[in-house]
Amino acid sequence: MASVTSRRNRSLCSAVTVICMFHLLGSCFSNSVERKIYISLNTTASCVRLLNATHQIGCQSSMNGDTGVIHVVEKVEDLQWVLEDGPNPPYMVLLNGELFTRDTMLKLKGASRLTGIAVVRSKPNPHADFSKDVLCPNDGFGIYSTSYGPEYAHCNQTIWNPFGDGLSYEDFQFPIFLINDENETQVIKQCYEDHNIPANGSVLQYPLCALQLFSHMHAVTNTVTCMRRSSIQNTFSLNPEAVCDPLVDYNVWSTLRPVNTSGQLDPEEKIVVVASRLDSRSFFWDMAPGANSAVSGFVTQIAAAEALQKLPDSQKLPRNIMFAFFQGETFDYIGSSRMVYDMQKGKFPIGLNNIHSFLELSQVALRNTSTLWLHTDPISQRNNSVMTEVKALVGILLKASENTNVTLQEVDQSKPIPPSSFQRFLKAQNIPGVVLTDHQGAFQNRYYQSIYDTAENIQLHYPAGLGPEEQMDYVTNTAEALTEVATVVARGLYKLAGGSDASSIIKADPKTVSRMLYGFLVKSNNSWFQSIVNTDYMKPDSILENKAPQYYVSVNSPARPTSLVRFVLANLTGTVVNFTKEECQNPKDSSNPEKHLYEYLWVPGSFGNSTTRTPFCVRTVAHLSKAVSPAFDLNDWGSTEYSTWTESRWKEIRARIFLVASHELEVITLVVGVTILIVSLLATYFINAKADILFTSTRDPGAVAY
Ligand SMILES: *[C@@H]1O[C@H](CO)[C@@H](O)[C@H](O)[C@H]1NC(C)=O
Ligand SMILES: *[C@@H]1O[C@H](CO)[C@@H](O)[C@H](O)[C@H]1NC(C)=O
Ligand SMILES: *[C@@H]1O[C@H](CO)[C@@H](O)[C@H](O)[C@H]1NC(C)=O
Ligand SMILES: *[C@@H]1O[C@H](CO)[C@@H](O)[C@H](O)[C@H]1NC(C)=O
Ligand SMILES: *[C@@H]1O[C@H](CO)[C@@H](O)[C@H](O)[C@H]1NC(C)=O
Ligand SMILES: *[C@@H]1O[C@H](CO)[C@@H](O)[C@H](O)[C@H]1NC(C)=O
Ligand SMILES: *[C@@H]1O[C@H](CO)[C@@H](O)[C@H](O)[C@H]1NC(C)=O
Ligand SMILES: *[C@@H]1O[C@H](CO)[C@@H](O)[C@H](O)[C@H]1NC(C)=O
Ligand SMILES: *[C@@H]1O[C@H](CO)[C@@H](O)[C@H](O)[C@H]1NC(C)=O
Ligand SMILES: *[C@@H]1O[C@H](CO)[C@@H](O)[C@H](O)[C@H]1NC(C)=O
Repeated sequence: MASVTSRRNRSLCSAVTVICMFHLLGSCFSNSVERKIYISLNTTASCVRLLNATHQIGCQSSMNGDTGVIHVVEKVEDLQWVLEDGPNPPYMVLLNGELFTRDTMLKLKGASRLTGIAVVRSKPNPHADFSKDVLCPNDGFGIYSTSYGPEYAHCNQTIWNPFGDGLSYEDFQFPIFLINDENETQVIKQCYEDHNIPANGSVLQYPLCALQLFSHMHAVTNTVTCMRRSSIQNTFSLNPEAVCDPLVDYNVWSTLRPVNTSGQLDPEEKIVVVASRLDSRSFFWDMAPGANSAVSGFVTQIAAAEALQKLPDSQKLPRNIMFAFFQGETFDYIGSSRMVYDMQKGKFPIGLNNIHSFLELSQVALRNTSTLWLHTDPISQRNNSVMTEVKALVGILLKASENTNVTLQEVDQSKPIPPSSFQRFLKAQNIPGVVLTDHQGAFQNRYYQSIYDTAENIQLHYPAGLGPEEQMDYVTNTAEALTEVATVVARGLYKLAGGSDASSIIKADPKTVSRMLYGFLVKSNNSWFQSIVNTDYMKPDSILENKAPQYYVSVNSPARPTSLVRFVLANLTGTVVNFTKEECQNPKDSSNPEKHLYEYLWVPGSFGNSTTRTPFCVRTVAHLSKAVSPAFDLNDWGSTEYSTWTESRWKEIRARIFLVASHELEVITLVVGVTILIVSLLATYFINAKADILFTSTRDPGAVAY
């Protein structure tokens, strides 16, 4: 015992000696250390690494971050400095947002004098088209392949996203960040101007302004590799340290008439499915405004659901209607492929055989001359009975648009359907279906899957001088237009569900469309969302933000948009019931005969005229269902049938700027540091070796091991 204590004392003492020596010697060089005043950048977004069965894409920094002298690149010619002329490599490029193109990035990709890129957000949106997605989104996971319509495979007939430069699916070996905020851009530029621009003709003086980016990624190679590693760790270690996680979330689905979620629908019962997607992406992590690519479709769908629910005969229609909102569609159809899989395995209350027809709302906000396009699949219509049903479906929709400001037009029958969730259903069963879009051929959306697919992209503008509440209720032209589309969709669905002809009374509500657009594209922390977000499910503050939600699917579920859509659906199509809080939260315990049909949400309620909220219970048919790619349930990480996308884990993502001393000074500092280390190691060794002389302690001869 005594020996252990004395050893401990001894090493403590030598540690103190080392620290003292460091301190003494270090004080000579404190100048260069003090000059390193760090300013952290607080509004950045980073590109991260994602992996699929065969590839890794995205970016990463080295383990301890990458540092370089800042060089501002405003025009292509400025690159010359970074690539060849500049005397102080390595460089970090502060890149003008308009230059964030494939051409520039390919020039920079192999450059040894470059350690990273910070892209400045363009404001207003760039003049040029800007889509970092590929020309043929979700290629290989839709229906067209060598065995089904090979003439349409790989976008042979229609390049859907002609503006896509594919950068989001490239692999970069250096960090790339987005500087989102103009003021931070200004801070960086100021630092650059103050330190990195030589006064006319003179030589650059140290210290220089440098940028440091941290985004080291743990996973490498592909999903097969990283999941195998994660699973080994899971099996053999008590403290699993996974390196990547599958992209997962939940789909939201509801029905016009409740269905028994504990059972299976009678095979004879037919149901009309209307679907849209909930997610989007961009080059940068968790930056996915998705205004046209996701929000336009699902907002229209919710508005149609509300319009139908209000009808007096909504519960008596011959066919039920299902509203499906799919998550993770961007990443090779995670949500829809899972629902189809569950339907095939009988793990979903509705089966594929129950589906009467399918209507998908894709991008619908950018209407050119008020026209929306109906896309149908040419191959499935080679079957005559299916062709007849598709014709009937198209006829009903065309009729529903009569006497409205929406012109529906059928796309040439020889054209394939655009990338859509419907393709996954069609793959499993020949279902008559239509995809509704604002584009006839290539996308109208110039900013598909980019950071600029924002409210601005779909012309959602408010008059100056309105407060938040007034903006929320202000009916913009965009809201007006989407309301019209929702009206047409609701009328068409009503007819498809076997409703009578008096469908002209069906009207979507421009007020709710306006409120949804505000909540989903401008600010989710608004009075309406505050009053409908279930308190127990999740702390309201954690899903409401003073900005627009982002629609990246991510790995933590449920994602904000998923919950928000569910709560909005519950509010617009649900019923207030007089349950107590306990009854509302534990409906399964009660003898309530309807517990298989509904879900119950305890919501905060609005203030009304009082100073406190009056919470109440809402009964809803809005459910969540898993949106996990079947590849991960099957442990088939190399699947080519199902999505295999995973997101790498990381320790930290951050960016900061500071002044660096010259290389020579840094080398001197390093040499001195190493010298101190060696000296102190020698000192420690010496002290340890001569400890008996230096420290007189009683030694226990028996205790050798410690
Ligand atoms: C970021 O936040 C930190 C701490 O609040 C602050 O010191 C720093 O100045 C901020 N960065 C910028 C660029 O404003
Ligand atoms: C994985 O992603 C890469 C990059 O987008 C793509 O080239 C490749 O085909 C994908 N692999 C599979 C199996 O889908
Ligand atoms: C940027 O700075 C200006 C002036 O300091 C301030 O008014 C503005 O709100 C800031 N913008 C942001 C986005 O922080
Ligand atoms: C160039 O240097 C001279 C003298 O140092 C100074 O007066 C002048 O303002 C400088 N010009 C610019 C453009 O900085
Ligand atoms: C729903 O299905 C479950 C299981 O099949 C059954 O026990 C229950 O009675 C059904 N509820 C209703 C309302 O039909
Ligand atoms: C056409 O499709 C229907 C329904 O999917 C199916 O029952 C029928 O067998 C198909 N006919 C042919 C000729 O494939
Ligand atoms: C949301 O807004 C309320 C005021 O309406 C505010 O008190 C609250 O802090 C905000 N929540 C978040 C997360 O910003
Ligand atoms: C929906 O929200 C509004 C505003 O908070 C509220 O007045 C209404 O009662 C809610 N309806 C349902 C069914 O929750
Ligand atoms: C709810 O309302 C029904 C009828 O409107 C009434 O019979 C019942 O007692 C009420 N339940 C509670 C908990 O107030
Ligand atoms: C709130 O007050 C206004 C006028 O003061 C009244 O018309 C309205 O009915 C009140 N609303 C509620 C929910 O009490």
